[in-house]
Amino acid sequence: MTTYGIIGAGNIGSQVARAVIAAGHDVVISNSRGPETLSDLVSDLGEKARAATAQEAAEAGEVVVVTVPLKAVDEVPVEPLAGKIVIDTNNYYFERDGHIAALDAGVDTVSQMLQRHLPTSKVAKGFNHIMAKDITTDGKPAGTEGRRALATSSDFEEAAEHVQRLYDELGFDTVNVGPLADSWRVERDQPAYVVAQTRSELVANLAKAERVTATDTDVQPGLGE
Ligand SMILES: NC(=O)c1ccc[n+]([C@@H]2O[C@H](COP(=O)([O-])OP(=O)(O)OC[C@H]3O[C@@H](n4cnc5c(N)ncnc54)[C@H](OP(=O)(O)O)[C@@H]3O)[C@@H](O)[C@H]2O)c1
Repeated sequence: MTTYGIIGAGNIGSQVARAVIAAGHDVVISNSRGPETLSDLVSDLGEKARAATAQEAAEAGEVVVVTVPLKAVDEVPVEPLAGKIVIDTNNYYFERDGHIAALDAGVDTVSQMLQRHLPTSKVAKGFNHIMAKDITTDGKPAGTEGRRALATSSDFEEAAEHVQRLYDELGFDTVNVGPLADSWRVERDQPAYVVAQTRSELVANLAKAERVTATDTDVQPGLGE
């Protein structure tokens, strides 16, 4: 049993909470407005969940899921996540997050941005290319024909392995994309993004990915101005 801290209690945060609780884990979940606004969700999740501030969820989680809009990533607490595996569900939507030059130019990835914000944590991408509602419905036992596969990516083998074990518990196969620098292959608008696919189909879709090419070669990784 693992205690998952969850920072963000929206579509994905609430669904990841449901799924990991169904698999026997505990959850400490948070949002931006404070634990008192999460009473309906926590009562729905049951006794294995409690609401907290983001700081408390980061402290309490043995493994922590960051699932806030990308524009809020710099508000994620740093110190309580030191040394921990952090699962990053985030995607870049310029319509919501504002334009980020380094992502537009294809010289950075969403998860490298979080890894730089959390320099002593072990960030692994997870749950970023599945619709929230499918997390609790599409899982199947290992070995089932057509079992859906999800990607992970990390600069830390231990973190990628954790996500792989968790996916398996929740009913999904895994493809490890490799280091976070390669995680653009599973970002928005790539062939592997938010489609139901088996492991071999996911491998094929990752191979088909084409990166945006930088037009401005002066753009550096990072959030920019
Ligand atoms: N929706 C999907 O199916 C889906 C699928 C895969 C990946 N994703 C990605 O996963 C991320 C989350 O998506 P979502 O759809 O779950 O978003 P959402 O429904 O808008 O929920 C975002 C959550 O983050 C919380 N939040 C915002 N700023 C925060 C802060 N500084 N500290 C703590 N919590 C904060 C919000 O709290 P308040 O409500 O209090 O503001 C809310 O609970 C996004 O990057 C998204 O692109 C989404």
